Amino acid sequence: MYQINDNYQKLPGSYLFSTIAKKVAAFTEANPDKSVIRLGIGDVTQPIAPAIIQALHKAVDEMADAASFHGYAPDLGHEFLRHAIAENDYKKRGCSISEDEIFVSDGAKSDSGNIQELFDVNCKIAVTDPVYPVYVDSNVMAGRCGVYDSDSQTWSNVIYMPCTRENHFIPEFPKETPDIIYLCIPNNPTGTTIPKTKLQEWVDYANEKGAVIIYDAAYEAYITQEDVAHSIYECMGADRCAIEIRSFSKNAGFTGVRLGFTVVPKVLTCNGVSLHAMWARRHGTKYNGAPYIIQRAGEAVYSEAGQAQLKEQVAYYMKNASVIKEGLSAAGYEVYGGVNAPYIWLKTPGQMSSWEFFDELLEEANVVGTPGSGFGPSGEGYFRLTAFGSYENTVAALERIRNL
Ligand code: MLT
Repeated sequence: MYQINDNYQKLPGSYLFSTIAKKVAAFTEANPDKSVIRLGIGDVTQPIAPAIIQALHKAVDEMADAASFHGYAPDLGHEFLRHAIAENDYKKRGCSISEDEIFVSDGAKSDSGNIQELFDVNCKIAVTDPVYPVYVDSNVMAGRCGVYDSDSQTWSNVIYMPCTRENHFIPEFPKETPDIIYLCIPNNPTGTTIPKTKLQEWVDYANEKGAVIIYDAAYEAYITQEDVAHSIYECMGADRCAIEIRSFSKNAGFTGVRLGFTVVPKVLTCNGVSLHAMWARRHGTKYNGAPYIIQRAGEAVYSEAGQAQLKEQVAYYMKNASVIKEGLSAAGYEVYGGVNAPYIWLKTPGQMSSWEFFDELLEEANVVGTPGSGFGPSGEGYFRLTAFGSYENTVAALERIRNL
């Protein structure tokens, strides 16, 4: 008789955004006359930029001709895309990351869930709290998190680094030494950042303690302030302790297209073993590469026209962020984020719990957001709104929230 991976049984409830989708579906079914505005999951709403659509069409046509057809992609991804990434995301920012340290994938979510496979089951993870649920859930599935306590909503074998208004959402070094540290900057869900000097301290800490940092930079395109690093490799010594994960979903609207990449520097080793070689082995064994046409679309992200169009798209969403931030502040809410990220993190009014506010917002204003407690215990009493809606819907949602 076979046995299942019992770690899955330990996971409480369903994935956060699946739970929300079910609740919203039940509400809309019961209230078909209500127009619901969705500012919950960070899914984009603007169409793919013209330069990228053009590249997609061209690549599709290439696939129709035997002379230009492409089958399996090389293990790490097509050279044309890895070259564009290395030049634009790294060399231009003074980071010495080469194209053969870049692994193209179908997105940051899968990479951030899969990367934990490189590490021993006894490694202890440290996460900011609140946190993007994929980091913890994927480690639970691997049997690394211990036992879940539903009262405290914490795992016995996870180090939580609370990020609240009290510490300005800047994680402090934990008392217990972690092996694997997850950092997402600009942060999902709080929309806040840490200055580059602070990030350098984390890099120094990881190198001193022999820990590895999994750095999720999915929202780097939204950085507006000079003192925030776009890549962890802007910090000295980061190539010896950090893996960086990037996405095309938020900077180029690829949530439905799927493309991302992970950087594993060649000098990153553990007891003499190269993590780059391990990830290459995993990639080669378990993944057959993002489709050629999608990688061509990714290349177009870095073209002159693509860059100009995407700058406008990011500005569009950041205008929404200002609408939400300023609108809520004017209505008396306490709000954070929204300056270097497309997320606004607000304190729920009065003593309302995150889920109580979710219900009120859905039922009374017909607006969907994300309850802060869904991201971890320190998210209780907070709530996330995304700036990825249309401008019209964002303005309408704010009007409804103000009228609550
Ligand atoms: C979010 O809403 O936190 C993100 O859209 C989820 C994701 O990128 O997977």
